[in-house]
Amino acid sequence: MSQATLIRLVILAVLVVIVLIAIRLHGAAAQERRGDPQSGRLFAEALCTECHAASRESAGVGRYAPDFVAIAGRRSTTAQSLRRAFRGSHGGMPQFEFGPREAEDIIAYMLSLRPRAPRMPR
Ligand code: HEC
Repeated sequence: MSQATLIRLVILAVLVVIVLIAIRLHGAAAQERRGDPQSGRLFAEALCTECHAASRESAGVGRYAPDFVAIAGRRSTTAQSLRRAFRGSHGGMPQFEFGPREAEDIIAYMLSLRPRAPRMPR
């Protein structure tokens, strides 16, 4: 094998590796898709309103679970804490039956209920 052929092969191999890395990075970016609050609201209204007041408009009328507006307004509420809350069993219900996509949508919706004004210290 001539040296020129060898160099071409090496260059080709490097290009293949770069393409594979690019494909992987692209896949990772797609997985980190942000939740969609609009569809999160639909999920929440379908699945959660039996117990929670799930919207700003209905705040205060929840049956026996905390209003989503109240949960969203807590200092300790973050996307991470909501993910954790979804994982455990919950309010006497065995476990939520939705996938990570729905969970991210509901989380985005719940975080959108945060009061916009800066919160007063409590
Ligand atoms: C069968 C009644 C019921 C349904 C349906 C329900 N919840 Fe709850 N949820 C509760 C109760 C009760 C609590 C408060 C006690 C607790 O944390 O277990 C609660 C608490 C929570 C909390 C706060 C946990 C914390 O850290 O205080 C979150 C977040 C939550 N629910 C999200 C949801 C979402 C999202 C849905 C719909 C997909 C939903 N819940 C549907 C009963 C329910």
